[in-house]
Amino acid sequence: MDVLTQLLVLTLTFTQGLCQYEGYDYDTDYEPDPESPYQPPIHFHPGVDYNVPRVPYSTECARECYCPPSSIITMYCDNRKLKTIPRIPSRIQQLYLQHNEIEAVDIKSFVNATSLTEINLSYNKLKSNKIDAGVFATSPHLHQIILNNNDLEEIPSPISSSVERIFLGSNKINKIREQDLQGLVNVTMLDLCNNRIDNIKGKVLSRLTKLMQLNICNNKLYSMPASLPTSLMYLSLENNSISKIPDDYFAKLPNLTAIRISHNNIDEVPLYMFNLPKLMELNLGHNKLKRIFYVPRSLEHLYLHDNEFESINITLMCPVMDQTHRLTYLRLDQNRLKGPISTFAFLCFPHIQSIYYGEQKHTAGEGQMHLIPPYPPPEHSRYGDDDDDDFPQYHREEHGPIAEEDEDEDENDIRGYY
Ligand SMILES: *[C@@H]1O[C@H](CO)[C@@H](O)[C@H](O)[C@H]1NC(C)=O
Ligand SMILES: *[C@@H]1O[C@H](CO)[C@@H](O)[C@H](O)[C@H]1NC(C)=O
Ligand SMILES: *[C@@H]1O[C@H](CO)[C@@H](O)[C@H](O)[C@H]1NC(C)=O
Ligand SMILES: *[C@@H]1O[C@H](CO)[C@@H](O)[C@H](O)[C@H]1NC(C)=O
Ligand SMILES: *[C@@H]1O[C@H](CO)[C@@H](O)[C@H](O)[C@H]1NC(C)=O
Ligand SMILES: *[C@@H]1O[C@H](CO)[C@@H](O)[C@H](O)[C@H]1NC(C)=O
Repeated sequence: MDVLTQLLVLTLTFTQGLCQYEGYDYDTDYEPDPESPYQPPIHFHPGVDYNVPRVPYSTECARECYCPPSSIITMYCDNRKLKTIPRIPSRIQQLYLQHNEIEAVDIKSFVNATSLTEINLSYNKLKSNKIDAGVFATSPHLHQIILNNNDLEEIPSPISSSVERIFLGSNKINKIREQDLQGLVNVTMLDLCNNRIDNIKGKVLSRLTKLMQLNICNNKLYSMPASLPTSLMYLSLENNSISKIPDDYFAKLPNLTAIRISHNNIDEVPLYMFNLPKLMELNLGHNKLKRIFYVPRSLEHLYLHDNEFESINITLMCPVMDQTHRLTYLRLDQNRLKGPISTFAFLCFPHIQSIYYGEQKHTAGEGQMHLIPPYPPPEHSRYGDDDDDDFPQYHREEHGPIAEEDEDEDENDIRGYY
């Protein structure tokens, strides 16, 4: 090939590389100019001789989208004000369609898309009654389907049984139907936060036999979801209207590592409810608890702020003082405590780094706020200095408005565990 052609190919490749970088930067407010419809920088037309070695795949790309030369399996169609699904070449495995205006998906759209492993359709206007049945079941390789921030009222079904992660947060889903999660034997993560689900009955969840993480925060649940699969490790039910946990609810869930049920109406839990061998984090903040419960030995972080505790009976938390409890952080602010908890706490929980009392709630008829000396006292605290290099993560949480609690994005994101 001549020098000019070589130069041209080089320049084009370089330009494409740049565009890929710019077009896929979520941190900047990428707003395509409405006047000039997005023009992909270049098309490789099969059949046209570009003097590049032939690859055994077609390099065709939907006109509205961008297929980077660095990855022939990826097609970027995000942020383009698209109203319909573009033509998807059958080689495409990763399809990015987020931030468009797509309402409808008809059966033809995905008919050739049999290699897909990942679909990102978040931030569109998907409507349940405009999605044909089975559109997300055409690829036997689908691993991840991202449908958050749409207008879905139902879980689309069926979805390929190969799927492992399903994101359905911030939709208008108000129920899980019998057929919805059928056959999804490989799902490990299901996110349904910010929807309108008020009740999960029957065995719909127990079929997800590999489920590790279930997020149903910010919904309208008035009872605990029925039949959680025994594989579950992370459960997020914050900000619902749950008032009771059935007595033996967690008995068949030995792998639970984190439970978050803050911002509910729970006023009582049986003494041994959380006796789970792997539980490390328990968040029951912003409930109506009055009576403390047994703390499993594995538990490291316990959040009980904004409840109705007037006292904390250490004997109930820790009936045997064998120093094997791993608790390091206990949050107790916004209760009705009148004094620090018994010093037995430090015998029971030898690893405790911090008990956060903060301010307590006023009790009717009392003008004065109860001020409880913090533990550890600031001047004796090994961690008194914020700049300390060894400063443990959990201790940081003690200071200021607890970020973990007040920034919902952080709190809801149990994904951080992975
Ligand atoms: C699917 O592939 C067939 C055969 O190559 C083609 O005729 C048809 O237009 C394709 N459909 C879509 C929606 O891409
Ligand atoms: C899907 O799109 C959303 C919205 O832009 C983005 O935040 C998310 O990171 C994308 N997910 C993946 C796996 O690319
Ligand atoms: C589930 O995952 C396993 C292991 O990756 C795989 O062998 C199996 O084919 C998957 N099942 C389905 C229905 O895709
Ligand atoms: C609780 O969820 C509702 C939606 O169900 C939402 O409007 C509200 O902001 C959430 N509150 C907190 C504290 O997250
Ligand atoms: C619990 O986790 C262990 C280790 O990851 C795993 O082998 C076991 O199958 C899990 N138990 C259940 C009931 O899923
Ligand atoms: C704590 O609970 C134990 C067991 O119920 C009880 O015997 C004890 O009196 C309680 N202690 C306080 C200070 O209430």
